[in-house]
Amino acid sequence: MSDRMIHRHTKLAIFMHWFNAGCWIALLLTGLGLIKNEQLNPLGAWFPAMMRSTFGGGENLLAVHQYLGMVWAAAFLAYMLFRPRETWVFLKEVFSVSPASDLLWLIKMNLKMTVGRKGMERFGMTPDLPPQGFYNFGQKLFAQASVVGGVVIVVTGVTMFLSTLMLDDADPAAWSRTIHYLTVGLVLAGLLVHIYMAAISREERPAFLSMFTGSVSAHYAKHHHPLWYAKVAGEEKDGASGVREPA
Ligand code: HEM
Repeated sequence: MSDRMIHRHTKLAIFMHWFNAGCWIALLLTGLGLIKNEQLNPLGAWFPAMMRSTFGGGENLLAVHQYLGMVWAAAFLAYMLFRPRETWVFLKEVFSVSPASDLLWLIKMNLKMTVGRKGMERFGMTPDLPPQGFYNFGQKLFAQASVVGGVVIVVTGVTMFLSTLMLDDADPAAWSRTIHYLTVGLVLAGLLVHIYMAAISREERPAFLSMFTGSVSAHYAKHHHPLWYAKVAGEEKDGASGVREPA
């Protein structure tokens, strides 16, 4: 029973995730290459200079950044249009929060990672975490930030693009640039934690592998996502073939 594999991600969801990750990395590098102001660019002056010479000038670099951003946004728009049910189930899953138990999960998870199980017991706390569903609260927080952040990044990006094309007024582009830059910074902070938790932390290795294979072991599901596991096990018992797939 515990070595049985449980379906977690569809092939399309896996493709969208890695397409998104690839676009994020490319947009981040081309975007950082566009920031000429040394005091604003976290990497200093050498990086924009290198990117500009690689792409044959700032204008080409800007064009690559803009059109890649539009391809990225168009792919998600197409996903939402052709897969409305999956989109809705995913959004419902990541934006549903149980404040009391989810906050307790977040606090205990942080303590577990910093002072460890023994440290928690020394302070009279049980190391057991409140049960989580398809995504744990940490994954939900990052998914929320990447969805809301993604919308803000696209809207401000398109505003800058259109205002340079059609408007004489530089104001919309100026405020959009500030919001665009700050939002990328906020999502990036979450992304560093996401990559650490997903790809480096050994506990979450099965979830990382599921982003290639599409499935996790029943043992992992039972221990890390017990509410989801209970639902899947219940559906299997009732003879329902499918497993709920939020993304
Ligand atoms: C580049 C390195 C990345 C790695 C190694 C990585 C890894 C993963 C893994 C393993 C999962 C599955 C978690 C699970 O099944 O419980 C996941 C889910 C997710 N990731 Fe990433 N990720 C990366 C980049 C990104 C980026 C750039 C974003 C968005 C800004 C992102 C957003 C998400 C979201 C929203 C989910 C939940 C939705 C889903 O399951 O598709 N990831 N990631």
